Amino acid sequence: MADDDTSTTIDTLAKDTKRYEADGEFTRQANAQPDIYDASLEDFWDAQAKQRLDWFTPYEQVLEWEQPYAKWFLGGKLNAAHNCVDRWVEHGQGDKVAYHFVPDSGPDDPACRDITYADLQRDVVKFANGLKSLGVGKGTPVGIYLQMVPEIAVAMLACARLGAPHTVIFGGYSGTAAAERVGDMGCTVLVTQDEAMRAGKTVEQKANADEGLSSVRTKIEHVVVLQRTGGDVAMQDGRDVFWQDLVADQSEDPESCPCEPMDSEDLLFLLYTSGTTGKPKGVVHTTAGYLAGVATTHHYVFDLKPDSVYWCAADVGWITGHSYIVYGPLANGATSVLFEGTPGHPDKDVWWSIIEKYGVDILYTSPTAIRSHMKWGPEHAESHDLSSLRVLGSVGEPINPEAWEWYRRHVGGGTCPVVDTWWQTETGHILITPLPGITPLKPGSATKPFPGVDAAIYDDEGNTVGPGGGGNLVLRSPWPGMMRGLFNDDERYRDSYWSKYSDAYFAGDGARVDEDGDFWLLGRIDDVTNVSGHRISTTEVESALVDHDSVAEAAATGRKDPDTGHAIVAFVSLRGDREGTDELAAELREHVAKQIGKLARPAEVIFTPDMPKTRSGKIMRRLLKNIAEGEPLGDTSTLLDPTVVETMQEQVKAGKG
Ligand code: PRX
Repeated sequence: MADDDTSTTIDTLAKDTKRYEADGEFTRQANAQPDIYDASLEDFWDAQAKQRLDWFTPYEQVLEWEQPYAKWFLGGKLNAAHNCVDRWVEHGQGDKVAYHFVPDSGPDDPACRDITYADLQRDVVKFANGLKSLGVGKGTPVGIYLQMVPEIAVAMLACARLGAPHTVIFGGYSGTAAAERVGDMGCTVLVTQDEAMRAGKTVEQKANADEGLSSVRTKIEHVVVLQRTGGDVAMQDGRDVFWQDLVADQSEDPESCPCEPMDSEDLLFLLYTSGTTGKPKGVVHTTAGYLAGVATTHHYVFDLKPDSVYWCAADVGWITGHSYIVYGPLANGATSVLFEGTPGHPDKDVWWSIIEKYGVDILYTSPTAIRSHMKWGPEHAESHDLSSLRVLGSVGEPINPEAWEWYRRHVGGGTCPVVDTWWQTETGHILITPLPGITPLKPGSATKPFPGVDAAIYDDEGNTVGPGGGGNLVLRSPWPGMMRGLFNDDERYRDSYWSKYSDAYFAGDGARVDEDGDFWLLGRIDDVTNVSGHRISTTEVESALVDHDSVAEAAATGRKDPDTGHAIVAFVSLRGDREGTDELAAELREHVAKQIGKLARPAEVIFTPDMPKTRSGKIMRRLLKNIAEGEPLGDTSTLLDPTVVETMQEQVKAGKG
């Protein structure tokens, strides 16, 4: 269960919280109407799949459910790239903007570019033909290690066009982390870029990829390098080719590379995410159910209109970007903003300038980003005309009521509905969320399961917890975008998600339900921590630390942080008589950044002669969090040596790290 103090806080909030009734004006024009909840689960998704997707061959059966594996829309044939690109061009929407691309340098830079659906089709066809020339075809796995450039969407869609499953590795991961993931999937082609632009600076990307590929065994035969900055990069003869050269002579005629008819259940992509052990999990997503799920939720949750300008400020390298920057919006023929940069560059107004410039009406971001803006002060948002905004979304971590209220008031003019959306890499699309115009809103609550979603809270024995209670969040019935397992690891799939309860999917999150039946998410209850909305396995951090020569043993945990939600604290015991200096702490933090990526770099490294172990030699992990947060420890009587924790508490107080 979640730690008691979190539950108490949320409980108090739930009682005292404000409630915003759905607004009449908004309700009248909303995509979702109250009867949306009336249909049965299968009927709801059946109707959505028919309405929102274009099928080469209609499906024969909506659902086959043999727990823990689901199949949706059986017998259907379709192609994701056709649904996201070609059909819009064929329907006369070729001139509609798919992406307003804003480079790292911001919306005033003339390098901003609009990419229409016709442009996207041309780029996708050319790149798909390029990939074909490298031997990629139906079923060939492709790795994509790019930053937030339009080509990341082009590469994903080119793969989808060919029926080649992709795995995108977040551009901020280290080259080693990238190589491990493409190695695991058996990719033969890796698509990357020369350098990334990050807050006005260039960051090596190709060099990182090279380093990873030289230290990890993979099947990579070709590396395609997008020239983003034109910086000098080493190219390996026979293996590496520039994107620009690869596409130069390729045909842009869609007939030259028709969309491969894919079975509903054919693999669309793997996305690796962190679990409770060090090895990342390859989450499997297939074609039709995923596409139906993302298109439907994108339409209703954000109240998307034909002339909407929608902006999801996440990174395509995470599931949020897959589902709500690429596949969902494009499957709905929407216009999106794609921003390469970060919230504070070139100035703290950049987000608001983008919204003003393009007339964005839907913004989807994370609580961490909102808290950054709060820290900088409301004057930045308030000095821009943000009256185009209609709907504000939040995702990735629990949103504290203060951030929710600030978002609605200073960004949303005090009237925009804020939709706090709960979901996971594994769920593929949003599962718990208010529907704007229909659901009364409560700051800090994700409110109700989406139509066609059967969520509940179970206690440890598997009993459903009623209003006012807390426990573990579960899903009792399948949904279309649910993962179809973990790549090559049936046992881990069953173990992680289906062994805790006999009849439900265990999400790994603690949650409470209030008297109105609204859900309040409380955060992870396992060894996964959430830093700035990025999911990190503490075990993976520990493996990276013990990989360092000086480290004998390491234990990492997430402690609460007012800005990033959680921050990683690493307790480290050193080998022999090595000394725990500030320099070594800094070196260890860098070592983790190099092994996994900067996102996993511990906020603090605390040296300790020993770990809090039970008599059977197991680290009592519950204590680590309490020590890191300076909280009371509770029962420590099973510890082998209770004085160890006292020393650790002193170290934390002294801020050793
Ligand atoms: O703990 C929950 C948290 O993020 C986890 C999923 O992380 P990931 O697979 O990286 O996907 C993030 C984006 C969908 C969940 O298990 N989480 C996500 N959204 C929320 C949330 N926690 C509370 N409220 C949310 N709205």
